[in-house]
Amino acid sequence: MAILDIVFYPDPRLKEECETVSEITDDIRKLLDNMAETMYDAPGIGLAGPQVGSNLRVCIVDVGGSDAEEGDEEEEVKPKDGSTLYKLINPRIVSKSGEIDSEEGCLSIPTIREKVTRAESVVVQALNERGEELEIQADGILSICLQHEIDHLDGVLFIDYLSRLKLQLVKSKLKKLIL
Ligand code: NI
Repeated sequence: MAILDIVFYPDPRLKEECETVSEITDDIRKLLDNMAETMYDAPGIGLAGPQVGSNLRVCIVDVGGSDAEEGDEEEEVKPKDGSTLYKLINPRIVSKSGEIDSEEGCLSIPTIREKVTRAESVVVQALNERGEELEIQADGILSICLQHEIDHLDGVLFIDYLSRLKLQLVKSKLKKLIL
């Protein structure tokens, strides 16, 4: 496994729509493994293809470490192998309900945290790295994280939801940081 370079805003690769994975090859599995290592190293709770320079519809999510207060509810959303890491191929949201505000950040937009409104609960369908179909019924932090990562696959960043004024403030903050 290897730690990959993270792509930072405003790199145009973060704004592209990703391509559907047509075949789950060893290269895809290796990419997902490397993405997991990169995410844990950062550390973060989610990472999507474009953030490591891939234009494929793949993402990983692991909210295990930050979900302790959710109590028993988290049990049912864990992957079957007992870990809390999801490796998702061609994930899509098939239903959403409710509304929830939370403060989000992104490994590609360092230091910025802003409040975003999202669906409270989502149902996501995807393939895992073995090509098996899986359905995740998520709420709380897992729901937010899944929506954030799937947005990445459509070239959408969490700051795209901010007001123009807020976005200007974020951009000037980032300019000082990166340029
Ligand atoms: Ni992100």
